[in-house]
Amino acid sequence: MAQPAGPDSVILGIETSCDETAAAVLLGPNDILVVPEIASRAHVELVTPVVARAIVEAGIEDRRIDAVAATVGPGLIGSLLVGVATAKALALVWDVPFVGVNHLEAHLYAAFLEEPDLELPLVVLLVSGGHTMLVSMEDHGRYRLLGQTIDDAAGEAFDKVARFLGLEYPGGPAIDRVAIDGDPNAIAFPRALLNDGLDFSFSGLKTAVVNHVRANPDVTTADVAASFQEAVVEVLLAKARKAARQIGAKALALGGGVAANSALREQFLDACVVDGLRAFLPSRAMCTDNAAMIAAAGWHRLRRDGPSALDMGADPNLRLPLL
Ligand code: KG4
Ligand code: ZN
Repeated sequence: MAQPAGPDSVILGIETSCDETAAAVLLGPNDILVVPEIASRAHVELVTPVVARAIVEAGIEDRRIDAVAATVGPGLIGSLLVGVATAKALALVWDVPFVGVNHLEAHLYAAFLEEPDLELPLVVLLVSGGHTMLVSMEDHGRYRLLGQTIDDAAGEAFDKVARFLGLEYPGGPAIDRVAIDGDPNAIAFPRALLNDGLDFSFSGLKTAVVNHVRANPDVTTADVAASFQEAVVEVLLAKARKAARQIGAKALALGGGVAANSALREQFLDACVVDGLRAFLPSRAMCTDNAAMIAAAGWHRLRRDGPSALDMGADPNLRLPLL
């Protein structure tokens, strides 16, 4: 067997923390061989075919796989268990290491899949359906929490506002699409805590959207979506830039499903140019939940800490390991 986490190691990643049943095969820390994915909650039925397809499409033999990584948390316990049990079984059968991966750490690593040369220290804005965090990354595995939401996550705000506007789930992509035809300055929604520390708050914004639409029934959905999106993006970027200044960061990275948002991506790149920061912006497919980021984070964990114990359990409330 090759060194478990060398440049030529092949890592199978499995992600089943939430809606997706996904598998990906990576060569080394960032060469994605294949990323098939099936969106569904039917993890038990899908996990075996998805893994089989990943291996076939990667064009490798089973015995070429050097380690199997799976998300152990945070997420829905029933979903997590399917991926973890599958990964352990495969690791046992193939006699290779199993690596339990923290889903949040994997979102951080998605930013470095396509541009692997870290520029440290860097600030990562992690914005997903369940989390909104500003993390300072000092090195691999060395994270400090600089700020986080005190109520709703940014993705949760997108999903709740979309539902209120009668758009489909998940709400983020739906608002992103509808906002293209709207005016981001049509409605001055509140920017909570804008000049106040590095924490976020989004629950008041959702209430402001509801109140505005009820008071102005003729307002267009496009204007509401665009103005809401602008309010979220402005606060996210203002705080990310402030955090970068505060720690003297050399680079800024985006991660998590909300990082797929068009307005956020565009303004993020502009802000990095203005502030002289290197920008790590993963492709949209790497922002939302995927298994390539699990394999990448697994590669780094394996290199640092070695294999995980086979009795490691899934933890629905797992947190990012902080300094
Ligand atoms: O990272 P992710 O795929 O799953 C979690 O770990 O939560 O993030 C999902 C979240 C959802 O709230 C979804 O609405 C949001 O990311 N999202 C977006 C966009 N695409 C996904 N939010 C805004 N704009 C998008 N284009
Ligand atoms: Zn996620």
